[in-house]
Amino acid sequence: MSKRLYIETVGCQMNLLDSELVVAALREAGYELVDHPRQADTVLFNTCSVRQHAEDKIYSALGRLKHAKEHDPHKIIGVVGCMAQKDQRLIFERAPFVDLVVGPGQLHQIPRLLEEIAAGSGPRLEVSLDRKAGSRLEVEQSFESYDPLRDPRMRPNPYQAFVRIMIGCDKFCTYCIVPRVRGPEQSRDPAHIEAEVRRLVDQGCREVTLLGQTVNSYRYQAGDRRWRLSDLMIQLHEIEGLDRIRFVTNYPRDMTDDLLEAVRDLPKVMPYLHVPAQSGSDRVLRRMKRGYTVAEYREMLARIRQTVPQAAVTSDFIVGFCGETQSEFAETIELVRQGRFKNSFIFKYSPRPDTKSHQHLPDDVPDDVKRRRNNELLAIQNAISEALNRPFLGRQVEVLVVGPSKAARKQGAAGASLQLTGRTPCDRIVVFDGNPRQIGQLLPVRVYDVNGFTLFSEVVTRHVGPQVFQLQL
Ligand code: 5AD
Ligand code: SF4
Repeated sequence: MSKRLYIETVGCQMNLLDSELVVAALREAGYELVDHPRQADTVLFNTCSVRQHAEDKIYSALGRLKHAKEHDPHKIIGVVGCMAQKDQRLIFERAPFVDLVVGPGQLHQIPRLLEEIAAGSGPRLEVSLDRKAGSRLEVEQSFESYDPLRDPRMRPNPYQAFVRIMIGCDKFCTYCIVPRVRGPEQSRDPAHIEAEVRRLVDQGCREVTLLGQTVNSYRYQAGDRRWRLSDLMIQLHEIEGLDRIRFVTNYPRDMTDDLLEAVRDLPKVMPYLHVPAQSGSDRVLRRMKRGYTVAEYREMLARIRQTVPQAAVTSDFIVGFCGETQSEFAETIELVRQGRFKNSFIFKYSPRPDTKSHQHLPDDVPDDVKRRRNNELLAIQNAISEALNRPFLGRQVEVLVVGPSKAARKQGAAGASLQLTGRTPCDRIVVFDGNPRQIGQLLPVRVYDVNGFTLFSEVVTRHVGPQVFQLQL
């Protein structure tokens, strides 16, 4: 039997990591990856359900496969990830040619399920328990995290990797489907995390990004010992060969001083903090049940700036949340203006079934108002992003070179010199003309031009002799 796999991934970093692990397991089972669903005999969609738009895209991609399935009934089509957990049997109803539906807590079953389907079992569904379908322990156990199998070929580059340190979420913001589809919050054993990071470093990885829906809520206890995220970072900092540690996404209330001090004091921990505010209005934050006020968020920003002045802070905002008035939106504009975020991800509110906001609050901001607010906020943020990049002109920064730039990849450029790309400590994108040998290295470069998204740079030539590089962020 030929085994050619095509996988399409939408959504967050968790999903990218899940896809990496699914592909690693399927490679082990003899599958090879192909670039187009047409060439594949197994097509998987790793899905997102955080907004309606992400789901619509998957259902229309599925619609396009209907004919392919009619032509070739042996083609196996699977829907995995968050939308699978959310819609379950409904997926078979809306797309009856789908063979496989697997939630994010059951991904380890995919190789076996595919085998059974190929052997004629008929359609298969594996999802975790709904949050109220059992005791806390039973529900927790039904979300199995699935981590150790790594395959560097599955990552965009071998030098950066995601490492899951917790799964699920217990915050239950009223708009959010994540606690439902990703299950209860559970932190992973630090010994397992450390072993995984060591393995990644042995494979050539230089930067890890620790992942959790609220990564700074990480808590683990074994006997008398307790770990917070800061303790975990102190432990990982010791790993030789590991150069950079990042972590996303942070929850504002858990941005404690020990964590900020760890970012300040541990050179490998990058000064980049993604801490979504969601809104600049107390009334909206209350309706969202975010658990903090705007004043508390501002106080947290002030603590960040005081403890780690060079840190880049980024945020998420939802515009057009239930009942958002023009003056509440104006308060969000004010927070974006004052917050000086390196960048912000801005989303139009999208009601999600079985969430508190959908059950109790009308989605009453018209779509064109949401769109206008989105564009307005984005324009303000973009101007700030560019202004924050300007001081980098003429400065030296350290970049982890990850590969050819997008432009170089498009041109298919080869040879000695080629445009390369990488990231600064605070996660700014850098491009420069370099040499393929520099890929995978940490290099000093000097910035000669900037826009809101990119620092254009040149390599700083190292002189022979005892020269100290004064690297800035
Ligand atoms: N509608 C719009 N945006 C949402 N997000 C989460 N749920 C929704 C929703 N129902 C946004 C939040 C979160 C980001 C990952 O997605 O801003 O931080
Ligand atoms: Fe969703 Fe809130 Fe949890 Fe973030 S903290 S994943 S927005 S419920």
